[in-house]
Amino acid sequence: MSRRTLDVIPKHRLLRRTLYGLLLAAPLLPGGMACGVKECEHGAPFLSGGPLARLPDGSLPENPSCETCPDQDAPLAYCLATTTSTGDAELRCTYYTCSNDGRRPEGLREPRGAGPADALGALFAHAAWLEAASVPAFLRLADELKAHSAPEVLVRAARRSAGDEVRHTRVMQALAQRHGATMPEVDLPPFEPRSLEEMLRENAVEGCVRETFGAFVAGWQGRTAEDPEVRSTLRAIARDEVRHAELAWAVDAWAHTRLSAAQREHLHQARLDALRSLGEEVERHQPPEPWIHGAGLPSREQARALFQGLAGLTA
Ligand SMILES: [Fe+2]
Ligand SMILES: [Fe+2]
Repeated sequence: MSRRTLDVIPKHRLLRRTLYGLLLAAPLLPGGMACGVKECEHGAPFLSGGPLARLPDGSLPENPSCETCPDQDAPLAYCLATTTSTGDAELRCTYYTCSNDGRRPEGLREPRGAGPADALGALFAHAAWLEAASVPAFLRLADELKAHSAPEVLVRAARRSAGDEVRHTRVMQALAQRHGATMPEVDLPPFEPRSLEEMLRENAVEGCVRETFGAFVAGWQGRTAEDPEVRSTLRAIARDEVRHAELAWAVDAWAHTRLSAAQREHLHQARLDALRSLGEEVERHQPPEPWIHGAGLPSREQARALFQGLAGLTA
């Protein structure tokens, strides 16, 4: 067997078949959209932050404060002033959805408040932040795999994934900057030592569920985003994210050789719980129009289809 073969995690054929099958369902570009405007209008992509005072000339404030946006389980993305059907001024608050997901390291704190940005700027800045947060998550995984005498191919793949995330951070930052937005700082407490079981639990939740779903979403964005630069950026990211998902599943398979039957059952249950919670998030959120058309994020219905594909892998 060549050195190159030893360096590569085997392809997860069912994962790839599922993803490619789902992507075939996305309309071909250019000319098609992920969904027609009307199809995307149902649902509640925003919450009201309450009534707003108009400026003395009667116009709407351009950069209103988001302080009155209601607290949600999802972090606030941005807010803007709009006119209601009765002609009143109102603050509309938009929150990040589970479509903006990846491998979150333990203890990661969401950035406080949303900086001034348009809808796409807010989305790309948050995506860049999450890419940056994935770097320490993979470096920690590599160190822990080595400490637990995992096969070298897994350790190297985790290190390589950290390098991929550095690149992803850079390209997403560039997209955010194009829209006048800045990536928030990653606020992460120092990691504490933990058991093999705790490490594997995080891998099951963040890798086998969240990052695998993130790979599906990135693939969808790479096919449906209106902006060609976003499409090509996300296509390249999706290729890496599929490998990251395959790493998570390979770590999971290796874990099964190290755990007792009871520990394996706990791990399986953690994955099912994460899957259920992701499914609930998919049902709760409808991304706003600019995210669907400009960035190619799946609508709630499309995210549901991607989620069902993931559920087929995870059950
Ligand atoms: Fe990434
Ligand atoms: Fe990743």
